[in-house]
Formats: sequence, C-alpha cells, structure tokens
Amino acid sequence: MKTARIAVLVSGGGTNLGALIKAEREGKLKSGKIELVISNKADAYALQRAANAGIPTATVLKKECLTQEVFEDRIMALLSENKIDLIVLAGFMAILSERFTSAYPERIINVHPSLIPSFCGKGFYGLRVHEAALAYGVKVTGATVHFVNEVPDGGRIIMQKAVAIRENDTPETLQKRVMRLAEWQILPAAVEKVSAAMTANQ
Ligand code: GAR
Repeated sequence: MKTARIAVLVSGGGTNLGALIKAEREGKLKSGKIELVISNKADAYALQRAANAGIPTATVLKKECLTQEVFEDRIMALLSENKIDLIVLAGFMAILSERFTSAYPERIINVHPSLIPSFCGKGFYGLRVHEAALAYGVKVTGATVHFVNEVPDGGRIIMQKAVAIRENDTPETLQKRVMRLAEWQILPAAVEKVSAAMTANQ
C-alpha cells in the first residue's frame, strides 16, 4: 500500500472534512488520500465541499433502510467497493454498531469536541458537548481524536489538544474556537499519523 485509501463519513457542515482536504492539498496529509465521502444526510454541506474538491460522494439515508443492519451493510459495501483502508468519522452523527466497528479494528477514527474522558459517550455530540462543559464550569476543554471501538468515544486516544474557556463564552463561541484551535489541527495530523503507520507496515 503506497497511500492509505480514506473514506470520510459526515452528517453536517463538514468543516473537519474541509481541514482534511486542505491538509491533503498542502501536502501535510501525504500518506493517505481521501477517495470517498459518505453522508447520512442528503443536505449535508459537507457533500458540496467534497464535490468542489472533486471527491466522489455517496449518501446513505437511514430512513431508506429497514434496519440498522441494512444501513451499515450499504456503508460497508461502499467501503469495500472503493477498497477503503481507513474510515474517518468527521461529524458523523449516526450510531455504528459493534458489528460494524469490529469489522475495522483500529481502522476507524473519530474527532470528538472535548478532552475525553470528559463530556463524551452517549448523548454528547455537537453543541451539547460545549453546553455541558460550560454548565460544569471547567476552565479547560479541547478536542480528541481516537480510534473507534464498541464503546462510544471509548477507543484508544491518538491525539488531544486543550483549549482555554473564556469568561464570556457561549456554547457557539466555544465550539468555533475548539474547532479552529484544536479539531482542524489535530484531525489532519492524526489521520496522517495513522496513514503513515498503516502504509509503513505494508
Ligand atoms: C465537530 O465539532 C465534531 O467534533 C463534532 O461535530 C462537529 C461536526 O462539525 N462531533 C461530535 O460531536 C461527535 N461526537 P463539522 O461537520 O463542521 O466537521
């Protein structure tokens, strides 16, 4: 394997996907290449970002699948058709079962907007994570990139970056700062690190 073939799974705005595309263009992500973007939402702006960058896209909607198994089988079929080596969850808001995660041991990575093990697990996603951090009153938060296993946000940590909370932060201002200072920095770096390790072993 010369470069790892990467699929990015998205649901929303896709700013993390944007950071990965930029890193690839700038040569910072050089051991892997984004070959496919899969969304579980038809109107995700992330799909537009992928199309603008010339990356093939696919949409798999849960409501068009009778069961969770069918939903996951469709995604798995796309991954196998495209010979994907590494799966990156970048704001992918659908649950993946153990049947799915165990099929790709240490081959799925996720970015989470807090310092795991704080404010993570079931129910903690998107803005809710920042609302919880502000409600608790922590003075430092950040982002984590980790491998995905059967425990929600429980897989081995690859990279973390801390971000200071300000007195006047709202969930929205905090989310934006955590993205800019942490997520968009460590996600491309972690994807390069994992891709480099995967390709070195081939
Ligand atoms: C990001 O903040 C990401 O960390 C978070 O959703 C946002 C997606 O933004 N993911 C989770 O909360 C997963 N538990 P994006 O679509 O602009 O990349």
